[in-house]
Amino acid sequence: MDKNDPAYRGQSFYREWFLRIYDPVVLGFFAHRVWRCPTEIAMEQYRRHIGVRHLDIGPGTGYFIERAGRKPDAEVTLLDPNRAVLDYAVRRLAPRAVVTVEADVMKPLPIEGPFDSVAMNYVLHCLPGPIANKAAAIANAAVTLTPGGVLFGGTVLGSPELHTPLSGFFLRAYNRQGAFDNLGDTNKGLIEILGRSFESVATQVHGSVALFVASVPRRLI
Ligand SMILES: C[S@@+](CC[C@H](N)C(=O)[O-])C[C@H]1O[C@@H](n2cnc3c(N)ncnc32)[C@H](O)[C@@H]1O
Repeated sequence: MDKNDPAYRGQSFYREWFLRIYDPVVLGFFAHRVWRCPTEIAMEQYRRHIGVRHLDIGPGTGYFIERAGRKPDAEVTLLDPNRAVLDYAVRRLAPRAVVTVEADVMKPLPIEGPFDSVAMNYVLHCLPGPIANKAAAIANAAVTLTPGGVLFGGTVLGSPELHTPLSGFFLRAYNRQGAFDNLGDTNKGLIEILGRSFESVATQVHGSVALFVASVPRRLI
């Protein structure tokens, strides 16, 4: 990705060394102690919604896909602008064959689908704000779904009332550093951008995180 692209900083941190410590640090310590949304809750959402043809946008280490209990005939596509992420997740998921696509979810996606499910887990808070800007990512995901398909995921919100002194400290630090761009992200804003592309939208707030599920892509009505 071009260094001047507004989405560059949100994906540039995911290098090999960081991916090696990602699961215990981010999905362990940060999810539980800082954002207060235990990883089991997000995993439960994966288990419930992952479909036979699944697209994972921003797969990170591939932790959720590996443990979600895919069906034997499942076909998985991983999409990320960061080659190190794709390579890491492919190794993690081996010997299962997966398709990889090096692309930025903020731009029209170079894939057709259709997919039964699309996950965008802990990706929206990395995308360039304000939240209205992130509607492009939701719309790009929506067009890859079957009429009965579902988009699901989670994102750290910026709303001050959802933060403890500890999570507020990291929220501000990551926004300064550029890994996050979510200070203005609210649950209401999230519902609004999901609602532009989907007829049915549900969110649940756990700690500083909103988990979301969206179905019935609007273009298909
Ligand atoms: C916090 S990690 C989440 C990883 C994984 N989904 C999880 O829940 O553990 C953010 C992921 O989003 C990816 N990402 C960041 N910006 C992106 C963009 N513009 N388009 C697609 N993926 C992006 C990163 O490279 C990384 O894989």
